[in-house]
Amino acid sequence: MGDNVEIVGILNGYSGLINGDYKEMSEDDFRGILTLGGTILGTKRTPFKMMRVVEDDNVDKVAAMKKTYKDAKLDCLLCLGGNGTHKTANLLSQEGLNIIGLPKTIDNDIFGTDVTFGFHTAVDIATDVIDRIHTTAGSHSRVMCIEIMGNKAGWLTLYSGIAGGADIILLPEMPYDIDRVCEAVERRAKRGSNFSIIAVAEGAMNVEEARMKRKDWMAKRAEQGFGATATNRIAQAVQKKTGMETRVCIPGHMQRGGSPSAYDRVLATEFGSYAAKLVEIERYGVTVAMVNGRVTQNRLADIAGKTRNVPEGCELLTVARRIGREPGLTSPLPLANGCPTLTGGAAFSASR
Ligand code: F6P
Repeated sequence: MGDNVEIVGILNGYSGLINGDYKEMSEDDFRGILTLGGTILGTKRTPFKMMRVVEDDNVDKVAAMKKTYKDAKLDCLLCLGGNGTHKTANLLSQEGLNIIGLPKTIDNDIFGTDVTFGFHTAVDIATDVIDRIHTTAGSHSRVMCIEIMGNKAGWLTLYSGIAGGADIILLPEMPYDIDRVCEAVERRAKRGSNFSIIAVAEGAMNVEEARMKRKDWMAKRAEQGFGATATNRIAQAVQKKTGMETRVCIPGHMQRGGSPSAYDRVLATEFGSYAAKLVEIERYGVTVAMVNGRVTQNRLADIAGKTRNVPEGCELLTVARRIGREPGLTSPLPLANGCPTLTGGAAFSASR
């Protein structure tokens, strides 16, 4: 891009756009940030579903965002984030603003792109966690349930589960049957493995939960409070049914922290450079994507509001099953929560 470009940083995501919190960025602001995780601008969750809702503060959020855009004399706005960010980006685009999206999330679940930046760094961290758990699991002859982030999509659990050699991988897309999980643990024990590692996606659900409406399921989870995660429930059931000592490990937000991996640095640079080109040619209403190894763009209207789940036909799922000792643990089941119909239960990978 030419030298005569002024860059304005919006602080704390859409919240900054609503409240008019922004600052002119200088070249100095961008020095030395390649190795930094997080964001130098700050971020905040401002749910899409609340964007059109006027709350107690009486602020019309959409009007406020359009005003800030105008006050800051922006020619275009680049929105970096996950599915929620893209939904609001699309809304602003439909409201007439010049918007370009960039897919940034550890969940890797943005529709229309093969990869998002942040994902591979989180895979590396989660894999390291599973690696480290192996020694303590083996030493204590325990079943270790590791909770990996990902509420709707199981990409992070699938990748790190395979890379870390988890014995059982439970994904939100494939409802599990706890009896079959326990049978698998017992089978491993009978074959001489004194420990098992279960990689559980944050949003994993059992067959009954999968039949519930997502809204009801979320309400049930909220009602049960902090400790009542799928991982804790699975660990309790496994210990009770198998009699094997079981522990839970939740790496949580560590998966979103630290320095980005080399892969993500390159990917973010490629995406950023492509986005700069889009600004130059004034191509708006789109988001950057990687499709079959090529950086390209998708129309925001085509991808907003859609989630890229792990599909049943997914190559990696087949690989996980092929190298494992068990087939899927349940029969085909139509999910009531908006995910596509999938066969499954659990994917098994070979343990070390
Ligand atoms: O969307 C990314 C993500 O890390 C999910 O995997 C996780 O469920 C969620 O964010 C956690 O959100 P928060 O940081 O708001 O608790």
